[in-house]
Amino acid sequence: MAQWVYIEDLKNHIGNEVELRGWLYNKRSSGKVKFLIIRDGTGFVQGVMVKGSVPSELFEQYKDLTLESSIILSGTVREEKRAPQGVELDIKDFNILQKSVDYPIPKVREDNIPDVGVLLPKRHLWIRSKKQWALLRIRDTIEKSIEDFYHERKFVRIDAPILTPSACEGSTTLFKTDYFGEPAYLSQSGQLYVEAACMSLGKVYCFGPTFRAEKSKTRRHLMEFWMVEPEIAFYELDDIMALSEEFVEYLVKRVLDERKEELLILGRDISKLEKIKRPFARITYDEAVEILKSKGLDFEWGDDFGGDEETVISESFDTPVIVHRYPAKIKPFYMKKDPKNPEVVLNMDMLAPEGYGEIIGGSQREEDYDVLLKRMQEENLSLDDYKWYLELRKYGSVPHSGFGLGIERTIVWISGIRHVREAIPFPRLLDKIYP
Ligand code: 4AD
Ligand code: MG
Repeated sequence: MAQWVYIEDLKNHIGNEVELRGWLYNKRSSGKVKFLIIRDGTGFVQGVMVKGSVPSELFEQYKDLTLESSIILSGTVREEKRAPQGVELDIKDFNILQKSVDYPIPKVREDNIPDVGVLLPKRHLWIRSKKQWALLRIRDTIEKSIEDFYHERKFVRIDAPILTPSACEGSTTLFKTDYFGEPAYLSQSGQLYVEAACMSLGKVYCFGPTFRAEKSKTRRHLMEFWMVEPEIAFYELDDIMALSEEFVEYLVKRVLDERKEELLILGRDISKLEKIKRPFARITYDEAVEILKSKGLDFEWGDDFGGDEETVISESFDTPVIVHRYPAKIKPFYMKKDPKNPEVVLNMDMLAPEGYGEIIGGSQREEDYDVLLKRMQEENLSLDDYKWYLELRKYGSVPHSGFGLGIERTIVWISGIRHVREAIPFPRLLDKIYP
């Protein structure tokens, strides 16, 4: 019996007879030679059958082989320098486990975004296609790299709750649910909780799903997305700007080191990623407004940037750009005002280059009890709901800062794709919750 081997390990078995377990990804024929493209989760490999070198019944079964049928094959591994895995399989035998009939995603269409109306309802099958496979592997590497980055720097992971009694990022995008007769909301951000935790553990981060009931149908908006949020006691705005640069440089490098094959499958221009080295560009909101005006955009100081403005600003730089000190009136209550100019807050957004736009939002937090209380009253927030949060400013308050990085937008940029819906296994989009 041949040994069961994964495709990614075939290069260590050259000359041996092995067994593969997987699915038929594609096939083609040139008369006397039949080619089967097999996938098994770890990669793709071409199997070859030459007429006369396998039993004729087997050779004839080629015509019954349908796309995405599950299949077990055996054959000899042969070095093939031109193949992506560096090997091919000379097929000896195969068995169809279950024949797939009328697979609903034709090969020509499966990675073709204009057909997304067909592909999205078939997301449970679409994830088998090569580009989606590559994206999910890049996502996995980013998630693992996030854990590594913070643990290498002695941060403690804190899991913030998903069910929350109040808003963090404004009341207009809350998903409401019923909590034993009381209203509760799906978390928009773990920030308020990591602020509490950093007063216990110093350097902390949370990493989990967050929810925004945004009536936005853009390529940057999901209703459910994953965010990593570091929060550090005694850090000020400059400290988190530096941390965010180190973090993003690290994520890009890990993907380049570990997922180059996947980036090539996606057609990513790798030279652009190789330029992602610190220091990144840093500009104030005021300077960003100047850029917009110089490019002919009609933009008023005090407005928030939308997707179009972010695209224009980020296209002006080869590295990500940090925009800091936005007008206070467009930012949440918890951001500390700049002592040098109370019209603006000590916040930062990081915009990814090539027009990708915001991937990080963060700030220094208001640590003074009276100032924070006044800000909350101005915003008509229920002081009952936030009593615990205000208490953090009563018992040993210190300056502290943090940010949130949305991983789907980061994946979109690093992978060079267009839309966040492909950066998460099962996207939740405006009015769409299937499959
Ligand atoms: O800028 P945001 O809203 O910041 C916060 O939630 C802060 N409480 C974070 C903190 O300081 N701890 O969101 C942070 C990031 C954005 O930069 C973006 O990458 C992502 O979360 N994000 C979304 N991603 C996909 N779909 C959406 N609807 C998103 N909203 C925010
Ligand atoms: Mg933001």
